[in-house]
This record gives sequence, structure tokens and C-alpha cells, in this order.
Amino acid sequence: MTTLSTQRLALRTGLGLVALVLAGGAACTSSPTQTSAPRRVCGRMLYERHCTSCHGSAGLGDGPGAGVLEPKPRDFSKGTFRLVSTENGVPTDDDLYQVITRGILGSAMPPHDHLSHGERLALVTYVRGLTRSRRADIAQAQAADEGSPMTREAALEAAFELPGPPVELPAAVAPSAELLAQGRQLYVNSCASCHDLDGTGGLRHDMVDDKGRPVFARDFTAGILKGGSDPAEIHRRIRCGMPGSPMPAYDLPDDDALALNAYVTSLIRPQAQSRLTQVHMAFAPTETDDVLSADPASSVWDTVDARWVAMAPLQWTDHRVPGFLVQMARDDVSLGIRLTWEDSTPHSGGQNISSDTAAIRLSALNIPQFFCPGRTDETQEAWEWNAESGTSSIIQGQMAMQGRHHRGFYELVFLRDLSRLPERMGMSPQGASVTFEIRNGVAGVPDRSQNITVWHRLEEAP
Ligand code: HEC
Ligand code: HEC
Repeated sequence: MTTLSTQRLALRTGLGLVALVLAGGAACTSSPTQTSAPRRVCGRMLYERHCTSCHGSAGLGDGPGAGVLEPKPRDFSKGTFRLVSTENGVPTDDDLYQVITRGILGSAMPPHDHLSHGERLALVTYVRGLTRSRRADIAQAQAADEGSPMTREAALEAAFELPGPPVELPAAVAPSAELLAQGRQLYVNSCASCHDLDGTGGLRHDMVDDKGRPVFARDFTAGILKGGSDPAEIHRRIRCGMPGSPMPAYDLPDDDALALNAYVTSLIRPQAQSRLTQVHMAFAPTETDDVLSADPASSVWDTVDARWVAMAPLQWTDHRVPGFLVQMARDDVSLGIRLTWEDSTPHSGGQNISSDTAAIRLSALNIPQFFCPGRTDETQEAWEWNAESGTSSIIQGQMAMQGRHHRGFYELVFLRDLSRLPERMGMSPQGASVTFEIRNGVAGVPDRSQNITVWHRLEEAP
């Protein structure tokens, strides 16, 4: 009798946990004033849901998806963080909050601006605790090896690192010709050996990070700055360095720092960064009186607004697809989604080359797990198109797809019949979550050539 009720209780608790986790940690929409104990529990739930697929449950950077990623997810046990604002290179809570919010351009680390302020704070607390506890494990193991065991308390104490004072930002000055010339001189003397004279960073292939993984100096011209291209951020990178990577910290007088900053900024192509940055978007299909067809050349599409959607590759190579234009429309019976992206090497086959493909996934969840290798699949419906199959329309149940390669661009239409389960398509007040994948086969085997987006929202037509 007792056993049975205990079992029931356990089951109920188990289900309760599942429900909480599926809701994306809904119970965790904690206020910033929440005390530290609940915040830790909440942080763990959120971390397990949104971070373990890449960073691993112990934070060692060894999650199930990590194998295919390049660069690799951070190993929190190292305690070194690249994007810091302090003199001693230890991140402040705000440094961690910003990186979790913004994600890291130039890697697969996605932005988490769709989580609440309290949830992001809880994640900061959890990541910090994880770092401290893994560092304590290492200190204890080392001490035991050396024959002088350490208590847990002493190890945790030794693993504690207080962020130092913030680096001071000099007051901004307008870039002048003299300032740029001074900056260029300093750059040629101190930076060009790694970053190249033209700022493209392709010179050195021998640099490694604190885990022995290859790293490359930043290509400033491409605008892929991990900490952002804001002058204040560039100043922090120059003054604090990027701990754990070969990028040194420079202790400079203010005028030199300002000159270098102005020069580095002048190398960045305008708009390059905003075009690559992923933001969570909401789409509402345009209602049209015309009849939609799967023909990508149909003139129906001339009247539908197009929006640029940035993508992140699993492996940051020159063959990545930086993004695509999306158009969405609906008539009385169907929803049409047209994707347009640049590809100068259409479905070229060969050794170690996979086919060009594109896919759209829909999920009924409000905040599904980021769709990367190693996550739980929370997709309700997936539409996949393969360029090898040619341009003829493929009918799969209620779905038609047709693509063509035209003047260096793929144009692809997914046409979904709305008479069957239209609510999955976001055609209900609840909407749906939608994510996109594009593979550029010439980049190599499937994981190497995959580019993905965060989950966006698909809303009912206005
Ligand atoms: C798709 C994989 C992926 C997911 C999911 C992911 N990360 Fe990351 N994360 C990365 C990668 C890759 C890096 C390292 C990027 C680099 O070195 O350029 C990174 C780096 C970081 C860093 C280091 C920042 C620094 O300054 O060095 C922090 C902190 C971090 N992630 C926290 C999180 C948290 C918290 C979550 C979950 C809410 C998360 N990440 C989810 C891939 C991921
Ligand atoms: C020893 C080689 C080396 C030298 C010298 C060097 N850098 Fe770097 N720098 C790097 C590497 C490597 C990275 C990328 C680190 C990473 O991605 O983890 C980097 C990244 C950067 C970034 C990018 C920050 C971001 O947000 O992505 C800036 C800005 C930068 N360096 C500026 C400079 C300036 C200015 C100088 C000269 C005063 C300089 N670097 C000298 C190796 C170097």
C-alpha cells in the first residue's frame, strides 16, 4: 500500500518535472531579486535544457553536439572566458549575461535574448557555479595526487575568482586623419604579425587556444567580431585580451588605445556585422488574392515582402551560407514560403561533397530547444528539399516543393496545404516556432556543410 502511493507520488513528481522542462523552464521566469538558492535550481534546469547539447552537463565543452562544431564550445572548467571587461580577465556577471544574450558570432553559440531577464541571470549564476565547482574538482584531484589532500571547502575557496576592476573606457573622440595614421602605425608594429597588414587575419595557421585547438586572428574586414563591433567592446578586447586565446592584453595610454580602436574600426566593412547577426524574428504571412503556386518564378512573389534571415554554420568555413531572403504568403488554401540564397556551386557532386539541401522545421512549443546535433528533437513537422532531385516539384502528402538555380541564386518554394492541421503552420492564435537549415554541399560532408537558424516565430496572418 505504502509502496504503491510512494510510486504514484514519484510518478507525479516525475511528470511535473517533465512538464516544467517542456515549458522551457516556465517556472523559472524568476525576478532579478530572486534569492540565490531557487535561482541555482532554475539555472540548472535552463542550462540542462538549452546549453548541455553543446557545453555538456558538467560544462566541459563536451556535449553530444560538440564533436561537429568548429570552433568548439567553451570548457567552463578552464575558467577562461574570452569576452571580458576587467583588468584581471575574470568576467563580471554582466560580461556573462551579455554573451549569453548576444551569442557569439563566428561560432555556433546562439543568442538567448528570447529568455527572460531573470532566466538569463539564473544561467549566469549557474555557469559561474559550474566553473567554480569544476575548478575545485581539479584542484582536489591535483592535491590528492601530490599526497596532500584538500578539503572541498578549501578547494572551493581556491577556485573562487573575484572579477577585478573594469578597464576604463576613455571618452570617445571623432576619428581624424592623424588619429587613423597613429592607429595604423601602432597596428603595423604590434598587431599585423597576427592580424595581417590588411586586417584579414589569414596569415598565421599555427595558433592554438588553451585546449590546443586551432584559432585564427580575427578577419576585421568581414565584421565577425565575437564581442561586437561597438568601439567600447573593441577597446575591451585590446585592453583585456581574450583569455584562453593567443590574443594578448595591451596596457596602453588612452590616446594610443583610441588610435588603435579607430584604425581597427575603419577596417570593418559597414553593415557586415548586422547582416550576420542572428536575431529572433516573428513572421506573419502576407494574405494574397492570387493563387499561390510552387513555381519559384511565379510573379505572385514580386508583391510579397522579403526579409533577410542570418544563419550560423556548425563549422565556420568560407563555404558557409551567411543567410537567405524569406517571403511568406497565404491564399485561401495554402501557405507558401519562398527562400532565396546565393550559391555559386549548385549541387556539385564529388568525393566528400554532399548535396545542397534546405529544410524548414515547425514546432508547437513556444521556446523549443535550439536545433543543433545532440538536442532533443521537438519538431512537429519538417519539410526537406534536396537539390539532387532536380527542379521538378515533389509532392509529399499535402506538400509541394519546387526549386531552381537561377543566376547564382537558389529560389525555392515550399507550398503547404492548410486544409490539414493548419494550426501547425502558425495559422492559429498560438502561432508556431519555425527554424531553417541550408546545406552547401561543396563545404563537405553533411555536418560540415550545415547552416542553421535560431527558432523564429510564425504568427497568424494579420
Ligand atoms: C549550438 C551550440 C551551443 C549552445 C546551444 C550554447 N553554446 Fe555557449 N558556446 C558555444 C561555442 C561554440 C562557444 C565558443 C565560441 C568561440 O570560442 O568562439 C560558446 C561559448 C560560451 C561562453 C563563453 C563566453 C566567453 O566569453 O568566452 C559562455 C559563457 C557560454 N557559451 C554559455 C552558454 C549558455 C549559458 C548556453 C545555454 C543557455 C549556451 N552557451 C548554449 C556553443 C553553444
Ligand atoms: C599573437 C597574435 C596576436 C596579436 C599580436 C594580436 N592579436 Fe588580436 N587576436 C588574435 C587572435 C588569435 C584573436 C581571436 C581569438 C578568438 O577568436 O578566440 C584575436 C582577436 C582580436 C580582436 C577581435 C575581438 C572580437 O570581438 O572578436 C580584436 C579587436 C583584436 N584581436 C585586436 C588586436 C589589436 C588591436 C592588436 C594589436 C595591438 C592585436 N589584436 C594583436 C591574435 C593576436
